[in-house]
Amino acid sequence: ERLTNMKLSVAGTGYVGLVAGVCFAEVGHSVTCVDIDENKIDLMNSGISPIYEEGLEELMKKNLAAGRLHFTTDYKSAYRDADAIFIGVGTPEQPDGSANLTYIATVARQIAETLEKDCLIVVKSTVPVGTNDKVERFIKDFLVNNVKVEVASNPEFLAQGSAVHDTFHAARIIIGTECEHAKKMLEQIYEPFHLPIVSVNRRSAEMIKYASNDFLALKISYMNDLANLCELVGADIEDVAQGMSFDARIGAKFLNAGVGYGGSCFPKDTKALSYLATQHGYHLRTIEAAVDINKEQKLKLFEKASKRLITFNGLKVAVLGLTFKPGTDDLREAPSLENIPKLLALGAQVFAYDPVGTQNCKKLLPDKVTYTSSPEEALTGANVCFIFTEWEQIKALSPSVYKTLMRTPLVYDGRNIYPLQAMNDAGVEYYSIGRVLK
Ligand code: UGA
Repeated sequence: ERLTNMKLSVAGTGYVGLVAGVCFAEVGHSVTCVDIDENKIDLMNSGISPIYEEGLEELMKKNLAAGRLHFTTDYKSAYRDADAIFIGVGTPEQPDGSANLTYIATVARQIAETLEKDCLIVVKSTVPVGTNDKVERFIKDFLVNNVKVEVASNPEFLAQGSAVHDTFHAARIIIGTECEHAKKMLEQIYEPFHLPIVSVNRRSAEMIKYASNDFLALKISYMNDLANLCELVGADIEDVAQGMSFDARIGAKFLNAGVGYGGSCFPKDTKALSYLATQHGYHLRTIEAAVDINKEQKLKLFEKASKRLITFNGLKVAVLGLTFKPGTDDLREAPSLENIPKLLALGAQVFAYDPVGTQNCKKLLPDKVTYTSSPEEALTGANVCFIFTEWEQIKALSPSVYKTLMRTPLVYDGRNIYPLQAMNDAGVEYYSIGRVLK
């Protein structure tokens, strides 16, 4: 029997859950998304997305109207007779670097106590290797009705800011199962996406997620490490990266040096894999090094500026870009969050501009920061400028803007936005990451 339109439920409406739910509806499945936050559910039922993600709201509205997409806090009605339930709740980092599995456990228990028919449980959240086994045992222990449950791992590889696009154009779908039936069901659920499917066992699927993210984090830290060396020996990291990129074994992506990676994934997943290793008595030295380098890299420009200036006290500092990358309003682990408190503590007046991150920043940083609605406003009369995110609005500024608007045109660019020569010609004292004037 072939089920093309399945009844799917999704637990958790964060980036992973919401995007998965909406995209499953878009390809024809009947989807119910569950969250404990009533306000958020009401908002989504009225067609408003709680996160800023290109194309998402449009698809939400379309599928709500088509009756294929539902949002509810009533998990019982959503789980009871679902063909499959996707778990997309958070696994936040704990102080020791391990992943907090409380939310997964809560959902697993709710599922166990609610199911009235056989069901496939799919873990989409990023979870330490072995968690799917635990989830399966946990659900079986708490099952109330006599139903059959299978648990599968299906990690998510979407990046924030391009989540919808990434879902429909994923490089691969990873399916980790321990039985043929679960594998078949997931293949059917994903069939309408027409994407390559890689089928492995559950533990390998869990590992693929960490291995992929940590490899990318390692790649960035490697380039940052090299950038620091380039500065010392007079090489240019961008030329080096370009030269490397022609080798298909290296690839052209994720070779950009900067002020370090942030976000909700790389910082958390590197620490979680190191933690997993130490639990097994092993030191994952490559990843530990990447984490250390990233920590230092976030303050690279601050350290440079500290050496150049007598004091920050009383200086007007323009901060351009607050989010951990462009295209998102997320500030988790963003370099700006490390730097701004240091500047404030040293008596600087911080004027910050970000096209979408201001609201989130207000929740995380003291009131002392002044937020501006344009980069020009932040730059006017400034003594120093730090650039932390390569937003288009910031890239579009011409070098002469810094020269004209700033009191003293001293710019520290953590994303290598401008050509050195152009800044030089405009009369801007300009520092970036790992580059030399040619
Ligand atoms: C990342 C991965 O790219 C996704 O494949 C993965 O699914 C996701 O984590 C996840 O686990 O959910 P994301 O954190 O949204 O996605 O953002 P990225 O675009 O990967 O950027 C992460 C950080 O690396 C940013 O701070 C960015 O500025 C930095 N970066 C990226 C660099 O410093 N240099 C580069 O060359 C590329």
